[in-house]
Amino acid sequence: MTEDFVVRVVSNERIARDVHDIVMELSSAAEDISPMPGQFAHIASPDAFMRRPISIAGYERDNRRVRFIVRAAGRGTAAITSMSRGESTKALMPLGTPFPMESAIGTNVWLVGGGIGTAPLIYAAWSLFKTGRSKIKSFLGFRDERDIFGKRELGTFGGASVNTGGFVTDLVKSALTAEKPDVIFSCGPGPMLVSLQEICRRENVKAYASLEARMGCGVGACLVCNCEIKGKRAEYRRVCRDGPVFDIAEVILS
Ligand SMILES: Cc1cc2nc3c(=O)[nH]c(=O)nc-3n(C[C@H](O)[C@H](O)[C@H](O)COP(=O)(O)OP(=O)(O)OC[C@H]3O[C@@H](n4cnc5c(N)ncnc54)[C@H](O)[C@@H]3O)c2cc1C
Ligand code: FES
Repeated sequence: MTEDFVVRVVSNERIARDVHDIVMELSSAAEDISPMPGQFAHIASPDAFMRRPISIAGYERDNRRVRFIVRAAGRGTAAITSMSRGESTKALMPLGTPFPMESAIGTNVWLVGGGIGTAPLIYAAWSLFKTGRSKIKSFLGFRDERDIFGKRELGTFGGASVNTGGFVTDLVKSALTAEKPDVIFSCGPGPMLVSLQEICRRENVKAYASLEARMGCGVGACLVCNCEIKGKRAEYRRVCRDGPVFDIAEVILS
């Protein structure tokens, strides 16, 4: 169930340039939730009027702790990364459509992340790893060495290769010459997803992408976050509610 939680910072660690790994605890009076990888929270920033969408990077049910990995991209996210242990804010969550986890259990799954897009894939990896039935490989791309995070953590699930300063999709292309995954879960900048969409079309590989869009309400009411769906007539979906995860073959990316 989606709820507007009061969340209190339990820890906040800088893990790469401008990137913080933040654990927050849900207020104890709140309903229990079962957030899925690919879903996000709409977080009230101490320094911005509008909330900011941030992917759920992990959830511990027993102690009601939710993990966010946040890059200080501008004023709103910078204020979130500056929150200290004990400070509170509000987070409307879980929101959006997750990665299709059920269908990935017991299969060969590749995770393809670009920059901060690695965050939701970490939660997907943990969830699949816990089933003990999926084969997981990660491909990560970062602008330079100072931006890298998640490599060691994802590496423990079955190997993670990293590209800096180039195209993470080159790693994917090269790996596809040796084997094909059953499905790819991806998240990253537009050009990365465009390239991945083309590779998956050519190689006939099923893939899902978590899209980023500017958001207003986060719950499907304001239509700020539209993305276009492939077809003969212009058709749109709301990234916040119909996504952020879409079949990569269905969306028009830019
Ligand atoms: C579903 C979803 C999940 C996300 N998950 C994460 C996450 O786990 N960690 C994280 O650090 N960031 C995540 N983002 C991106 C994050 O929401 C934006 O970086 C943030 O809203 C920027 O706000 P700001 O006030 O810090 O920066 P602003 O000053 O508003 O903008 C700074 C820069 O970021 C760009 N930007 C602004 N809003 C968005 C947006 N919604 N998506 C993409 N670019 C944007 C602007 O064009 C500008 O270049 C996610 C976005 C979406 C839609
Ligand atoms: S952000 Fe309002 S409809 Fe998506």
